[in-house]
Amino acid sequence: MTEHKTRFYIETYGCQMNFADSEIVNSILIESGMEAVQTAEQADVVLLNTCAIRDNAESKVWNRLKELRGLKKTNKAMTVGVLGCMAERIKEKVIEREHLVDLVVGPDAYRDLPNLLEQIEDGRKAVNVLLSLEETYADITPVRTSGNGVTAFVSIMRGCDNMCSFCVVPFTRGRERSRPVESILGELKQLSDEGYKEVTLLGQNVNSYKFGETDFTRLMDFASQVNPEMRIRFTSPHPKDFPTPLLHLIAERPNLCNFIHIPAQAGSTTMLERMRRPYTREQYLNLISEMKSIIPGLALSTDIIAGFCGETEQEHEDTMSLMREVEFELAYMFAYSERERTLAHRKMEDDVPEQVKKSRLTQIIDQQMAIQLENNLKEIGATHIVLNESDSKRSTEQLSGRTDTNKMVVFDKQEYRPGDYVSVEITDATSATLIGKPIKKTSLTEFFSQEINIQNR
Ligand code: SAH
Ligand code: SF4
Ligand code: F3S
Repeated sequence: MTEHKTRFYIETYGCQMNFADSEIVNSILIESGMEAVQTAEQADVVLLNTCAIRDNAESKVWNRLKELRGLKKTNKAMTVGVLGCMAERIKEKVIEREHLVDLVVGPDAYRDLPNLLEQIEDGRKAVNVLLSLEETYADITPVRTSGNGVTAFVSIMRGCDNMCSFCVVPFTRGRERSRPVESILGELKQLSDEGYKEVTLLGQNVNSYKFGETDFTRLMDFASQVNPEMRIRFTSPHPKDFPTPLLHLIAERPNLCNFIHIPAQAGSTTMLERMRRPYTREQYLNLISEMKSIIPGLALSTDIIAGFCGETEQEHEDTMSLMREVEFELAYMFAYSERERTLAHRKMEDDVPEQVKKSRLTQIIDQQMAIQLENNLKEIGATHIVLNESDSKRSTEQLSGRTDTNKMVVFDKQEYRPGDYVSVEITDATSATLIGKPIKKTSLTEFFSQEINIQNR
């Protein structure tokens, strides 16, 4: 018997889906009578929600687990658990061999957590890594303990069926399934009532969302009508089947942001084939032209992998040239890291030497930083609508927020508050941030109707 409520602490690694999942776990544990705390030191139960996408993501978790072993020496009753995408891979292995972990729970088994924690109280280790064909946690309202109260993530689907040859996600998160529309819209309504101003809809491949008659475009249509002053973003769509009607919808609706993250991964058709990405360089570039022509002022971001199996110098150059051609406003760039169970691991050779991978990645990053700086400097003098998120990292006298096009802007706080939309004139820029001068508080409806007036004049 414990005298106080059992205290838990969740540390989250990896992508936004994992952050959204941690909020579901929060909800499940609080519902079961436990209490959330803000540090591992205060907690009876420490949970790491882990990522397996690349080797360095896993190393971070292993290092943290070793640190926690130290903490466990001073607090013997402490339970340490691994949740998320590493769970499937490590299962009993860690429990038996390393004695670092008492509990391993996969992404589809979070409802079982209270029960598994009870097993541990009885002195047993607990594992549940079963993946599900149905679980979407549709009836669970996430508890957002660590957010800014302005922006939130909402999962609309789970798992992935794409089987890109490099990617471990289909193995860690299982088959693709869509969450019921009503449950998504209910959560959006609740967030809007609580004062949230921006929601990002999450899935590994959002354009394959399908629930009954509702496809992704229809879902976005419904989502944008929940509150015309609440911005809607989404990540990630797949280039193979991006719906054109969605582009028109984004162009029409002020609260559908003019920003699309559209992972290319590589710039040559031969490489895309090996990656099992079912589109060619030309199809990708055509999609980008279509996007830019339908949505004026559209900003784009992407994911790129350097040094995948068999990558030739020419294929690397093709990736570089694709990135120059599109001029992404932002890119997440990675060196290929082989993952067990993937097609690449089973059938291909991880044959690009480490230094070559690194040097290609550096070239890709350097070029992208130069493009970003150039693009951001062009923003000087422009006026953007910025949603204030929080104090800036450097100073409590400054606010930071994002433009409709997802660029970070920092400006003097004055009378403005997180959650306000402010029109901001851009006065300076780096490759990562815009610096601005606030003009006045505004709303999406007001700002975009004025912009249309200016364009029409
Ligand atoms: N479903 C999303 C991607 C999720 S993983 C999508 O398809 O866009 C995020 C990114 O990690 C991927 O887009 C890819 O660029 C990168 N990634 C995935 N597996 C990787 C690996 N084995 N090595 C290096 N980067 C990888
Ligand atoms: Fe991985 Fe491809 Fe699925 Fe994205 S679409 S999660 S890269 S398998
Ligand atoms: Fe990592 Fe799992 Fe996300 S592997 S990137 S946390 S889906």
